[in-house]
Amino acid sequence: MSKVVVMDHPLIQHKITKIRDKRTGAKEFRELVNEIAMLMTYEATRDLQLEEIEIETPVAKTKAMILTGKKLGIVPILRAGLGMVDGILELIPVAKVGHIGLYRDPETLLPVEYYCKLPNDISEREILLVDPMLATGGSAVAAINFLKEKGAKKIRFLCLIASKKGVETLSAACPDVDIYAGVVDEVLNDHAYILPGLGDAGDRLFGTK
Ligand code: PRP
Ligand code: URA
Repeated sequence: MSKVVVMDHPLIQHKITKIRDKRTGAKEFRELVNEIAMLMTYEATRDLQLEEIEIETPVAKTKAMILTGKKLGIVPILRAGLGMVDGILELIPVAKVGHIGLYRDPETLLPVEYYCKLPNDISEREILLVDPMLATGGSAVAAINFLKEKGAKKIRFLCLIASKKGVETLSAACPDVDIYAGVVDEVLNDHAYILPGLGDAGDRLFGTK
């Protein structure tokens, strides 16, 4: 089964409460989503590989650690995943960014793909797949299967709010993908919205309805 990491850091919890609040407008919502994504990236990259190299400071020779191993790629699920990209790039500015466009059909609630553009060396990169919401899990599973078809081997999924069902579905379908969630909410409503959740993440980010 997937490793599931739920962020218990007070800063993350505080900021998630702010984005849940319906009084939070699009400007502040966007800023907070990026800040949470940045803080979550710190945790989700804790096990990146390091190697020791020799360097010279202005006063002495020393051994010190630098990142080694695979380079990173960030893949937001459009639209709402876009809101997390800048925050992650603040920490990992050299990461390449791919995009997968999916929307949930309002009748079937199943994901429909409408866009895909990925780095051509995707098989050599560790991928951070990002979407603020993991509701039924359908979009995340579809995106992961798609990334794997294109050659991705190591994928971590980052979301701000997950539902219990979404975590179960994703973990069962993609046990090799670790899940990093800001918080896990109990239920989905009849339209597969997370409760209490934060509403429609894409609409709140971009001010649409
Ligand atoms: C939302 C969200 C996820 C998906 C989650 O996107 O950003 O991609 O729903 O739901 P699921 O786990 O049940 O698949 P939406 O389809 O509303 O598209 P948008 O980002 O363009 O608003
Ligand atoms: N997509 C959203 O934006 N919000 C939800 O609660 C579920 C899916």
